Amino acid sequence: MREQLPFGLDDVKRWNGTYPTPFYVYDAEGIRNCVRELYDAFSWNEGFKEYFAVKATPTPGVLRLLASLGCGADCASIPELLLAECSGISGSSIILSSNETLPEEYRAAAKLGAIINLDDITQIEHMEAACGIPETVCCRYNPGQFSNTNGIMGHQYDSKFGMKPDQLLEAYAELRNKGVKHFGLHAMLSSCSLDENYYPNLARELFTLVLRIHKVLGIDIEFVDFSGGIGIPYRPEEKAIDMMKIGAAVHIVYDELLTANGLSVRIYTEMGRYITGPYGYLVTRVVGKKHIYKEYVGVDATACNLMRPAMYEAYHHIRVLGKETEPAEITVDVVGSLCENNDKFAVNRGLPLTDIGDYLVIEDAGAHGHSMGYNYNGKLRSAELLMETDGSVSCIRRAQTPEDYFSTLDVDTAFTAAKAESII
Ligand code: LLP
Repeated sequence: MREQLPFGLDDVKRWNGTYPTPFYVYDAEGIRNCVRELYDAFSWNEGFKEYFAVKATPTPGVLRLLASLGCGADCASIPELLLAECSGISGSSIILSSNETLPEEYRAAAKLGAIINLDDITQIEHMEAACGIPETVCCRYNPGQFSNTNGIMGHQYDSKFGMKPDQLLEAYAELRNKGVKHFGLHAMLSSCSLDENYYPNLARELFTLVLRIHKVLGIDIEFVDFSGGIGIPYRPEEKAIDMMKIGAAVHIVYDELLTANGLSVRIYTEMGRYITGPYGYLVTRVVGKKHIYKEYVGVDATACNLMRPAMYEAYHHIRVLGKETEPAEITVDVVGSLCENNDKFAVNRGLPLTDIGDYLVIEDAGAHGHSMGYNYNGKLRSAELLMETDGSVSCIRRAQTPEDYFSTLDVDTAFTAAKAESII
């Protein structure tokens, strides 16, 4: 959570005049400052580039902003490749980091000139059959054991991602024999890590491997992709990481292992959560209050809008707008309206006394928030707004309508549209 929200009750009331709750709002300036700091932290590395993980916030309004700051895109599907393209990100500024990749996905990536990141040695054959052998290929690494692994990613032995060290070397040799000219190395060994040693330790692991590949195969890896995995402080007691410190610590490892051995690589990252997570908010209104064995505050958002609490029991801080200074004296569950008992944004959370109509802001929802939305119970996905520093917003994704919902179904859409109009 951030110390202060970049907007207040009056702003939300104004926006709500046009956009019904629930809606997402992103703080453009917050995102800009975050990206600038990331580039500053790695400015010592020539060619450093952030390939934003599109899955975190797959909205062109956000991707265009990131493109304007020099970011590329990390994509995992054809629609994500298209999202990058229509946001002005193209060619080698796109990485396809997928697994169990389909022939049409290789083909699409190759046609766009995107970098393909292979998750497994068997993918060489699949890729070749689908689109031939590109000049540049990246390979994803799984060391089996790694000191900083945590929760969402799981233990590396149990992780489905990447190749074992011996497979990785074999893959590079095979790719070289098939004509690949430029090589990259990729690994994502943690998720939501607030440990400032994660990237320096990952750098040590990967740069050591770069050296080994150089010595054993005579192949010079040109870029090393740390992927994402940097965490954000969801809970009030957690502390944000210091990116400048991390960049400096990686620099030391770089000089020790690469510069000292006459090698150099471009560092790439594919952060999602760190870039947009803290700068996106889900705004919802209290629609019901219920007292049974516990106190419930019901809101008009559901897990369909933000599934992280239901899926991972993830903590998202909640503020009651206009009541920020009131004591958090009531212990409540904040719940949505799904027919699912895990549709809870907070369990046993202290909040000020709320009233029906109050606006709640669910924080740190900017990454893996709207993007993980779904339509269970026929719930429609919300709008996304982009806020500028003057408090104005632009709608970068309109809310779904019943018409959108019915558009893929085997029904008479004119009938459902007319019905919808007569009852809504
Ligand atoms: N690159 C690759 C290949 C990835 O698979 C991911 C995330 C990222 C980059 C971005 O990672 P980030 O910087 O956002 O940690 N749904 C979960 C997160 C799953 C992450 C999946 N991969 C959540 O809501 O916490």
